[in-house]
Amino acid sequence: MVVKNICCLGAGYVGGPTCSVIAWKCPEIKVTVVDLSKERIAQWNSEKLPIYEPGLDDVVKACRGKNLFFSNDIKTAILDADLIFISVNTPTKTFGNGKGRAPDLKYVEGAARMIADIAQSNKIVVEKSTVPVRAAESILNILSANQRPGVSYQILSNPEFLAEGTAIDDLLHADRVLIGGEDSPEGRAAIEELCSVYEHWIPRKNILTTNTWSSELSKLAANAMLAQRISSINSLSAVCESTGADVSEVARAVGLDSRIGSKFLQASIGFGGSCFQKDILNLIYICESLNLLEVAAYWQQVIDMNEYQKSRFTAKVIESLFNTVSGKQVALLGFAFKKNTGDTRESPAIHVAKTLLDEGASINIYDPKVEKSQIIDDLTNPSICEFPEQVKSRVKIFEDAYSATAGTHAIVLCTEWDEFITYDYNRIYKGMMKPAFIFDGRKILNHEELIEIGFHVQTIGKKLSRPRSPRCWSSKPNI
Ligand SMILES: NC(=O)c1ccc[n+]([C@@H]2O[C@H](COP(=O)([O-])OP(=O)(O)OC[C@H]3O[C@@H](n4cnc5c(N)ncnc54)[C@H](O)[C@@H]3O)[C@@H](O)[C@H]2O)c1
Repeated sequence: MVVKNICCLGAGYVGGPTCSVIAWKCPEIKVTVVDLSKERIAQWNSEKLPIYEPGLDDVVKACRGKNLFFSNDIKTAILDADLIFISVNTPTKTFGNGKGRAPDLKYVEGAARMIADIAQSNKIVVEKSTVPVRAAESILNILSANQRPGVSYQILSNPEFLAEGTAIDDLLHADRVLIGGEDSPEGRAAIEELCSVYEHWIPRKNILTTNTWSSELSKLAANAMLAQRISSINSLSAVCESTGADVSEVARAVGLDSRIGSKFLQASIGFGGSCFQKDILNLIYICESLNLLEVAAYWQQVIDMNEYQKSRFTAKVIESLFNTVSGKQVALLGFAFKKNTGDTRESPAIHVAKTLLDEGASINIYDPKVEKSQIIDDLTNPSICEFPEQVKSRVKIFEDAYSATAGTHAIVLCTEWDEFITYDYNRIYKGMMKPAFIFDGRKILNHEELIEIGFHVQTIGKKLSRPRSPRCWSSKPNI
């Protein structure tokens, strides 16, 4: 079989960009991305795509309507496909056995059952969602138990390593593509089919083929180890703040060691996003199920350190504001979990906002890409919020940073958007209550310059001195 027709179940942060790049690089392959959500598909077919990713608009515009289609007609897409990607969500369970740890595989199972119900010809089914080790076995069981006569399936694992904010670049220049499959003639043939798709733009030497379980575990391992580096440098940031060392200098010195390398050594308010925490919890759950309790405890520390970092940062904000934020106005710059995305899943900004609201503050929020409705949904989510009306009355969302900061006592920078570096902080300072505080949770601002202007500046992993000559100590902004 030569792959001519691809279907992708799930038009999210992974399915959308991945299949857009496949369509762009493989003009002779028809790629149809389907989703249960009518709204999401309508957005993919509109001028304003449902997700923000640098470069994505151009790729979609180049192929949409030619060999790239977004549709809710799941049945036709499955019937026509030679190869089906399962790119559905695998969130952490919020109920029952494994609550708060195990991944909820109901969407993966739902996708497998749809394929089994609809397919009338042989299919290669590719797990692109991040799943626990041996999930492919469950998918195959579901498909085999419902198989029509004459229809056969090959299941491959092809985890996605893209990072939000750099997804298109990551897909175009992947460090590696990983494909796991069964060690049988049919399994090897299916692996070759998928290899031939990626070989349109990825050199063969960068396509790694393994057994299915190694491929599934490698995805969890990669995310666990990336998050572990962040927690490691964040743990050292606390030592820096207590000793006078500077975590940026430490990270540079450590990262220049070629055995260690410099990436993922940027101390911050903590990691967020839909994957790191979920995938480590998934790994922990697997270890616990295998009675590997020491291994589970080891990885649990990576998450605990992240929670500690978020709480430590927020506690510092409150302590610096004379131990109370009740009745104060605080501006939050950035709400996405990182720059160049509008995704807020597990964003540290949610933790900061919730704590400040619990302590009685009112908050003004500005983020260049996150929709207002998303911010309100996140802050009024029943899992973190008891009194949604109170939140709504004390949260204001702004279209720009200058209005968001005007009249506030403090700025808390939660996301490392480039535009935050370029602002006129003299102007911002004039509009704020005095003393004016900035808490740089991403270490991106010029702290010396801010101190010179008159700000009280706090950041991660470095002690900063107070303003030399505060220009104004009146409690009113001097606009
Ligand atoms: N977001 C990332 O950066 C990233 C990176 C690598 C891997 N992953 C993994 O990829 C998977 C997808 O993540 P995402 O961020 O794209 O999720 P997402 O929530 O953005 O998208 C998933 C989509 O699947 C759809 N869906 C669910 N069941 C369906 C079905 N039966 N048929 C058709 N559509 C269905 C949902 O409506 C949703 O739109 C997850 O397992 C995640 O862990 C995510």
